[in-house]
Amino acid sequence: MKILVVGTGAREHALVRALSLDPAVDELHAAPGNPGIGGLATLHTVNPLDGREVAELATDLGVDLVVVGPEAPLVAGVADAVSAAGIAVFGPSGEAARLEGSKAFAKEIMAAAGVPTAEPRVATTIVEAEQALDELGAPYVVKDDGLAAGKGVVVTDDRHVALEHARTCLLKPGGRVVVEEFLDGPEVSLFVLSDGTDVVPLVPAQDFKRALDGDEGPNTGGMGAYSPLPWAPADLVDEVVERVARPTIAEMARRGTPFAGVLYCGLALTSAGVRVVEFNARFGDPETQVVLARLATPLAGVLMAVAQGRLSELAPLEWRDDAAVTVVVASEGYPTSSRTGDPIVGIVQADALDSVHVLHAGTADRDGVVVSDGGRVLSVVGTGADLAAARERAYAGVGLIGLVGSQHRTDIALEASRG
Ligand code: AMP
Ligand code: GLY
Repeated sequence: MKILVVGTGAREHALVRALSLDPAVDELHAAPGNPGIGGLATLHTVNPLDGREVAELATDLGVDLVVVGPEAPLVAGVADAVSAAGIAVFGPSGEAARLEGSKAFAKEIMAAAGVPTAEPRVATTIVEAEQALDELGAPYVVKDDGLAAGKGVVVTDDRHVALEHARTCLLKPGGRVVVEEFLDGPEVSLFVLSDGTDVVPLVPAQDFKRALDGDEGPNTGGMGAYSPLPWAPADLVDEVVERVARPTIAEMARRGTPFAGVLYCGLALTSAGVRVVEFNARFGDPETQVVLARLATPLAGVLMAVAQGRLSELAPLEWRDDAAVTVVVASEGYPTSSRTGDPIVGIVQADALDSVHVLHAGTADRDGVVVSDGGRVLSVVGTGADLAAARERAYAGVGLIGLVGSQHRTDIALEASRG
């Protein structure tokens, strides 16, 4: 099988790595990719947001499958363009990707499908936003309606801060904000594959969204993740499949915009039960790094079954007993700014450690030297018999990485590993 993966992050590196380990895959391409991905796949320069360019590349390469990693190309309709060129694609249509592209749309679908979520108010003016804040009360949750790379959400007790965020979002052309009820309780990410009809859940993971230890600091794209979740209720996956994934997939199909790809269910386990915090239309980053580290079934056949509407024929997925932990190494200033262009040392040494692999996120190749090129720079993955062992290995890897001014959280999976 020949496969083209679209995207540049550690999630795409994890996808390419898993595909490279699948004996059914004989050629791997990535666009635009990054230096880490370049070690496993042939890289191509392409504008990932331009469906025509991606479809042309896929056609020229004669690939059997295109896997679209990030949300922006999906929302821009890249999967539609690839499909129209007669090539199988893993990733939803632009219409279906609105589940991630518009938080207001996602809430509308959840309401229609009876999926439990925080009660929302959609505001298009500052007066409406103020009313919503006062009706729902503190802690305030204010979300930019559109895509914001995980940084569009503010959760605060400070009404002034909440209102300022609403104001910033509303100033954008067509700006809308969603103000919603605060959900208390631990968060879980569950990825559910769907071909538009059937659903197959992967294993749950937990992401650490805040920049600093102890869940302090601003929201980020994600600073680390682990799987499994020893503390989660045994019936969690079944409950999410039945109460969240199936009704959502059915509602999308009923509207004539079936969702095929991976439905990322971001959940809060509140005292009143499971609630959806958000939907995404793609694999999560950094959760994918730990989920794929545990998947024993070869990945290409799974993604192909989704793309070809054959999930019902897929044998049950197999999982390793190992636990996995990933720690994100971010550049100085992330998420507010990011310092780029600094050389990174120790990647090869960290990667050589037993049960450790290093995935590239924001890196670039400068005359043969790997340099930082983004906010999240690397995602170091450790696996082991339990979370404590996996965590120790991931941090041993992080300890070997040298990057001026870099930052990482020191408490990824700490509490869960003490379980
Ligand atoms: P989202 O982009 O919707 O996933 O939000 C990013 C993060 O903000 C989530 O992972 C939560 O940590 C937090 N968050 C979002 N919505 C809520 C909510 N209703 N209550 C509490 N925290 C929230
Ligand atoms: N880990 C959060 C996300 O991928 O949106």
